[in-house]
Parts: sequence; structure tokens; C-alpha cells
Amino acid sequence: MSRRNFLKNSSVAAAGLISAPLIASCKTETETNTAASEKTNPIRPIAICTWNFENATAKAWEVLKVGGSSLDAVQQGAMIEEADVNNQTVGVGGRPDRDGNVTLDACIMDKDGNCGAVLAIQNIASPVSVARKVMEDTPHVMLAGKGAEKFAYEKGFEKVDLLTEKSKQEWIEWKKTSEYKPIINIENHDTIGILAIDKDGDISGACTTSGMGYKYAGRVGDSPIIGAGLFVDNEIGAATATGVGEEVVRTVGSFLIVELMRQGKSPQEACEEGVKRIMAKNEGRNDFQIGFIAINKKGETGGYCIQPGFTYRTYSEDGHVNNPTESFIKA
Ligand code: GLY
Repeated sequence: MSRRNFLKNSSVAAAGLISAPLIASCKTETETNTAASEKTNPIRPIAICTWNFENATAKAWEVLKVGGSSLDAVQQGAMIEEADVNNQTVGVGGRPDRDGNVTLDACIMDKDGNCGAVLAIQNIASPVSVARKVMEDTPHVMLAGKGAEKFAYEKGFEKVDLLTEKSKQEWIEWKKTSEYKPIINIENHDTIGILAIDKDGDISGACTTSGMGYKYAGRVGDSPIIGAGLFVDNEIGAATATGVGEEVVRTVGSFLIVELMRQGKSPQEACEEGVKRIMAKNEGRNDFQIGFIAINKKGETGGYCIQPGFTYRTYSEDGHVNNPTESFIKA
């Protein structure tokens, strides 16, 4: 898909502008004015998420369309994937670390810059919900490991066995290899990052993952790190990341994308610039994946990835749109 078509099918489609006159030549004054006002009218509410997690954006939309907050929308959207045992990169059913333990990372951030995160938490089905409790019920931003798990039980979360038989059998197979080579998520699904704007124009975001499959015990990626896996600035927009977390942390990726939007770049341009900065530090490599999605205050969206095959979902008044993105490395 050409860049021109990609843009047409993504943010423009979400804005409901497909049939609107976009080129000023040969227009009547009324047409021109209509196009101008459509461009300045913010698209809201809207939810977007990494990958093709349509059930997540549908859930977020359910919350938004009845006037719910963007914070509730992103939490509930993320929870859908956390509960899906068939998704082996998030929540219950996630791939374990090299020792066979499923450890989860998540964070959440609201319109006021409040944020909460849990790192390497075990036995809890919805780490994003614990992250929200950290944000709302403690003076802290991050809780890790056993402390996070203890806090979750204190808040009434149930102890759950996160390792499904499928993920266990795959891990047993993996152990037969003597090489330490964690899976780097080049398949077409990974971490869910989800962003939303509610009817009041307020932006929130969430990010949740089981991280790199067969990672070293205790390894934490970008997903629970505010600024890396997720960043929200209610005046500007929000961004979230998917892929190899180490590379996203090195560039403070999501913060970078939001700052680029602050400087005037569109969400699409900002995501492309973020990916290119990462590639500039990884010359010659094509064996890993990083993708960003972003939304600005107007509800315009963008997404870009190092590898081909990356898509992101939008859900607005015009319904579901699956947005294939361009990639830095051409197929
Ligand atoms: N982006 C997920 C991770 O690297 O853990």
C-alpha cells in the first residue's frame, strides 16, 4: 500500500473524511468552508490500539460511546487482551520466562499525568488493573515483583495460574535448545498499547504485555515504563510502543513521539521519526521489530514499524478501521 493510500485508509478514514473534498481547487466557497471546519473539528471519542486487537478497541468504544472516560476505556480495552488465553503475548496465557514463570508488565496514564505501573508481576490476570490501583491508591508510580503481587492481593485481586498448557508445552520444547535466544516478537501480534480520547477531549493510555518470550527471569521491557512504552500529554497527544522493549527504552520512545508532535509533526510523521531514530542506532539490523502508534489532540492517528506487517486498530464514530502501516524495512 502506498503512503498516500495508507494515510487515506487510516486517520482520514477514522475522521470520516473519505468523502469530504480534500483538494481546494475547483471548490465552491461552501465546500471549502466545510472542508476547513471538518479538518479543525476534533475526532472524538476515538480509541486506537496496536495490532489487530479489534475486541480491545470495541470494548473501549463501548465505554466511550456512553460517555465513559478515556481512562476506563483504555483499562477495559486492555483487560480484554489480558484475559484472552489465546493471546500468548499478554496476560493469561502469555509466554513464560526461561524458568517457566509468566511475569507481566503494564502501565496506565491519565489526562492529568497521573500514572501507575507494575513490573514482573506474577499470578495476577489483569496487571493493567493493578497498575491503575498503584496510580490511584498509592503515592508511587511503580511496584515490582513480589511487592506488586502482595499489593494486588491486598486490593482483592485473585491468585491465578497464568501458564496455559499450550504456553507450557512450547516452553518445554524451547528448553531443548541450548542457546539463549528469546523470541523477539517478529510475528504479527505483541504487546497491546491502547490510547483513547473521550467525549470531553481527554486522553488516556495503557500498555500491557507478558514481554519477550523465554526472557531472562526478572527482565522488564518498555511496556511498564512511562515515557518508553507509553506516554500521554493531554495538551498534545499520546503514543505507545510494541516490539523489542530494550530499543524503545534506549530512545524513551513514546515520550519522543509526543515531543515530536509538540514540535508540530503529525502522529504519522512522529512515529516515522521515532522508528528512524532507533534504526539509526541499529544500522544493518533487520532482525527485530519496533512499532509505534500515536494520536494527537485532534484525534488524528498514525503508526509506523521497523518490520512489515504492522497494523493498528482505530474505533471512532465511523466504526472499526484496521490500518496497515508502512515499514522502515521494505518487504
Ligand atoms: N514491548 C514488550 C517488551 O519488550 O517487553
